[in-house]
Amino acid sequence: MTVNATALTVTLALVAAGALLLRWQRPAWYWMTFGVTFAVVRLLVRYSSVMDACGLTVPPSRLRLAVARITNQPVPQSRAPRILRLRPTRTGLVLRVKLRPGQDAFDFSAASDRLRHSFVMQNVTAREIRSGVVELRMTGYDVLKRVQMPAASDVGPMRVPVAMREDGEVFCRDYRQTPHALNVGATQSGKSVYQRNLVAGLAALDVALVGIDCKQGVELAPLARRFTALADNPDTAAELLDALVEHMGDVYQVIRREQRLSADVPDAEITADIWDLPDHLRPTPIVLLVDEVAELALYATKDEEKRRDRIITALVRLAQLGRAAGIYLEVCGQRFGSELGKGITMLRAQLTGRTAHRVNDETSANMAFGDIAPDAVLATIQIPTDRPGTAVAGDSSGGWCRIRTPHLTLRRAVNTCNAHAHRTPAIPALDPFRPVLPSLDKASAPASETAPALA
Ligand SMILES: Nc1ncnc2c1ncn2[C@@H]1O[C@H](COP(=O)(O)OP(=O)(O)OP(=O)(O)O)[C@@H](O)[C@H]1O
Ligand SMILES: [Mg+2]
Repeated sequence: MTVNATALTVTLALVAAGALLLRWQRPAWYWMTFGVTFAVVRLLVRYSSVMDACGLTVPPSRLRLAVARITNQPVPQSRAPRILRLRPTRTGLVLRVKLRPGQDAFDFSAASDRLRHSFVMQNVTAREIRSGVVELRMTGYDVLKRVQMPAASDVGPMRVPVAMREDGEVFCRDYRQTPHALNVGATQSGKSVYQRNLVAGLAALDVALVGIDCKQGVELAPLARRFTALADNPDTAAELLDALVEHMGDVYQVIRREQRLSADVPDAEITADIWDLPDHLRPTPIVLLVDEVAELALYATKDEEKRRDRIITALVRLAQLGRAAGIYLEVCGQRFGSELGKGITMLRAQLTGRTAHRVNDETSANMAFGDIAPDAVLATIQIPTDRPGTAVAGDSSGGWCRIRTPHLTLRRAVNTCNAHAHRTPAIPALDPFRPVLPSLDKASAPASETAPALA
């Protein structure tokens, strides 16, 4: 009996020590083994009292009061919102509640910090699902401390997972929903790592990658096997952009030929962009990645000024007209404001998707969010220096969230690009800008000369 009791005590002590060790070293594993059970029990036990303490209960209705009076029952208590669903996830809990009359979703957003402390969760965000139903997404540990992307993510034809959101969801870049994007941030804030994650994600899709990297190509040149065209200085960039504008014209010709606006063509078959074209005619979509965009807009001499105007005009044209031709822009820079000269704010206005890594001043944050989500500006300035890769991502609907990219090393990105090198499409208009390939690693895939030609 005593032996059994000792064995049980030792086992329990070992399990507790193991749990503590996991919680300290591997919070994600701790959550999936012990944390989720504790959190569910804690939430269900404390639910009513926490809602009451956070001011999220409503007093009894007149009807209930009247019934209590007639039947001589004690006065009924205030009621908390009804739990519709409680779902554990890989990173936390999702709680759906039905609001009581008189409550609104803002009550829950305003109380999210109090709820977070009361339920001992890392983060709580509230959003309205439909009228009368609010979803509280809670994370059990700091998911942005050590970013681990789930193995199976929701990849689409032009959609790639790039980062983790603070509410535990995966942040995806969807080019068909948000064709062009701007990514600003101070030096060493993690812009290039964000872009590297994007390239690694896009590498597996049927898309042509075109890069402009005025840091002499240090960021993009190692990934050259998956790039259809690459420019590493402003002169080549100007020519490359002109070629892209020309290619855009050709794509519009293909769409025009296919439109056939006669009375007998069904509405759904009339096309105005490449996605409605039949598969065999559809040109490969192009993602143009520009790192250090300010380099393209700076000039010292008259000639350079002419080149600058040419570049900015081409970029503006691509941003205005490129979407339907399947040309998407991803622009990165430390600052991207009107001090870079004419045309810049016009270009910025076309870049719907906004991401801001850590910035040093409010004006830089304003360049990303001033015109779409003013409260995101404050969140951007508050990003700590010791967490590179953290960013605030917003969209044109005014919503924003904190995200952090996984730390993808250049070596792993190169391996991914090499493994998908056979997907690199050839686009005749961009042939002169085909990158000069570095020598093959032992493990890399065959060279991109074997790539299929553009349909
Ligand atoms: N998600 C991340 N997790 C951990 N470390 C990161 C992350 N993102 C970036 N870093 C670190 O920050 C360093 C700088 O990142 P990066 O080169 O992307 O900055 P940058 O904003 O492009 O800077 P610059 O403007 O000077 O080019 C990287 O070398 C890396 O060590
Ligand atoms: Mg960089």
